[in-house]
Amino acid sequence: MQNQILHFLKKSEGYISGEEISRQLKISRAGIWKNIEELRKEGYDIEAVPHRGYRLASAPDKLFPHEIQFNLKAKILGKEVIHYDSIGSTMDVAFELAMKGSLEGTVVCAENQTKGRGRLGRDWVSPKGKGIYLSIILRPRLTPNEAAQLTLLSAVAVSEAIKKVCGVAASIKWPNDLLINNKKVAGILMESSAQMDNVRFVVLGLGLNVNTALNHLPPNSTSLKQVTGKQISRVHLIQEILQHLEKWYDILKAKGFPPVLVRWKELSSTLGRRVRIVDPSGAIEGEAIGLDAQGGLMIRNESGIAVKRMTGDVVLI
Ligand code: BTN
Repeated sequence: MQNQILHFLKKSEGYISGEEISRQLKISRAGIWKNIEELRKEGYDIEAVPHRGYRLASAPDKLFPHEIQFNLKAKILGKEVIHYDSIGSTMDVAFELAMKGSLEGTVVCAENQTKGRGRLGRDWVSPKGKGIYLSIILRPRLTPNEAAQLTLLSAVAVSEAIKKVCGVAASIKWPNDLLINNKKVAGILMESSAQMDNVRFVVLGLGLNVNTALNHLPPNSTSLKQVTGKQISRVHLIQEILQHLEKWYDILKAKGFPPVLVRWKELSSTLGRRVRIVDPSGAIEGEAIGLDAQGGLMIRNESGIAVKRMTGDVVLI
């Protein structure tokens, strides 16, 4: 009922009378009042003026499912949203839900993570209420080798969403770091469960520094607030991310990986650059000359030989 009342308040421009809400939702005036009080406790600023009714003055800066789902244009992604005030890692929750059969598109998000993790065993710093920390369950029809395509696809979607909401260009550093002015603003982590020939599910994790102060971030990182000088709506940004992600996921399903690769290359800050890449097999230096069909990075080394890397950390030289 709370969500329905909120829906009414959001849809009505200006005041809506208690009588109108009561009539449409078939709830008593006392019932409305009780729900309004609950919403206020959640941080909604709701004005009540005699003879005019109620008006939503402001909503709290929280990633509540009903906020993310309000006017969300994505059809599959975000149909189910699970929100935590604080959690170890959204990856663990999403993975467990996926194992139990949760729907494709389920989103797990948190205001704060106490054990946020990144690629290559690193931590992901997750200050409360400042960033976007979310994991999405996907059930693609891909082979385990092809699954890496999804991380590149996600980086494309996140870059486009940042451009749409903040007007700034975030370039992609292979495989899926997003950089603004050469500093990391977001990272993507993919974990999956697979059989020999097909992927059972994929959990895509996104960490995005939105309104985070620089002194709360690791060196060489930045946040959208730092770059734009403005407070950014995390809810709006998540909606755009889900919409862009769904658009590219549909393209992947309909046309395969080539169109994703074309867009990835347009947004890449890696290709054509001299790079040093470190992975468990050692370090190599050379020119990043392209991506293969699986999303692996091709590097022309000092001897002019093209070498492929599927994982590792790229340093742009
Ligand atoms: C990276 O750049 O190394 C990837 C970072 C991924 C961080 C996100 S935050 C939400 C989700 N939960 C985690 O513990 N990690 C991912």
